[in-house]
Amino acid sequence: MAEFKIPALKKQKQRGVPIAAITAYDLFTAQLAEEAGVDFILVGDSLGNVVQGQPTTLPVTLEEIIYHTRIVMRSVRDTLVIADMPFGSFKVTADETVKNALRVFKETGCGGVKMEGADETNLQAITRLQRLGVPAMGHLGLLPQMVHTAGGYRTQGRSEKSRQRLLAEAKALQEAGVFLLILECVEAETARLITRELKIPTVGIGSGPHVDGQILVIHDALGMLRGSYPSFARTFAHLREDGVAGLKMYVDAVREREYPADAEYVRSSAKETASGTLIPPGMDENAD
Ligand code: KIV
Repeated sequence: MAEFKIPALKKQKQRGVPIAAITAYDLFTAQLAEEAGVDFILVGDSLGNVVQGQPTTLPVTLEEIIYHTRIVMRSVRDTLVIADMPFGSFKVTADETVKNALRVFKETGCGGVKMEGADETNLQAITRLQRLGVPAMGHLGLLPQMVHTAGGYRTQGRSEKSRQRLLAEAKALQEAGVFLLILECVEAETARLITRELKIPTVGIGSGPHVDGQILVIHDALGMLRGSYPSFARTFAHLREDGVAGLKMYVDAVREREYPADAEYVRSSAKETASGTLIPPGMDENAD
């Protein structure tokens, strides 16, 4: 059972084995992730950007997260899958957060939920979810759902004040019961400090090497997008270029009538009459 993989993540921290995680949203990306042997898959609300083409993650709905998480769950055999709680589905009240997280957990069969931030409502909800048996993952640093109030996407934890605030929030989340903490775009020494101070694993994205693991958006890692990628993301494959090259070959083959070839369609040995009518084999040319 994928759910039982959560304790293994803590052991990886204790043994110093880096955690490799990735986002996925559908059959193709989930199967690539599982076959590559990632430690967990996040059905991130980044689907707003990379699947839906939205400018931010804010429009993503609870229904859409449930829809994509169910697809990912159907696509993997035993990889741990975590569903991201979208903007507006948590933080409003602890009751609402618990209700929505329970819904995601129950309707998708995923191994846990993730939510951004460490305000009081989140902490209360995480503790209650823990008691109910729903594992929760934390997320600190750059919080894409707060992009408007934060005034953009910026590295966090650069000043001493910000470093101490993040450390206090990380400890509060650990205390509330999160099993793992995502650190997004956190200054590297702040990420190192938080990682050293916590018993639970930290997994970074754009937060440098001194964390217990890394996570990337799969579209960045596999070069699936048009345009530029975040400076911290390494492109490990070029699926977009390969895909366009493959489809150009398809277009050329169709235009040159080279596709389909003989082996790529079914043809019975029909006879053609003088008037051009096709007579299937075994049929009398003079029959009605
Ligand atoms: O939504 C997402 O993909 C995420 C990752 C960037 C951690 O939260």
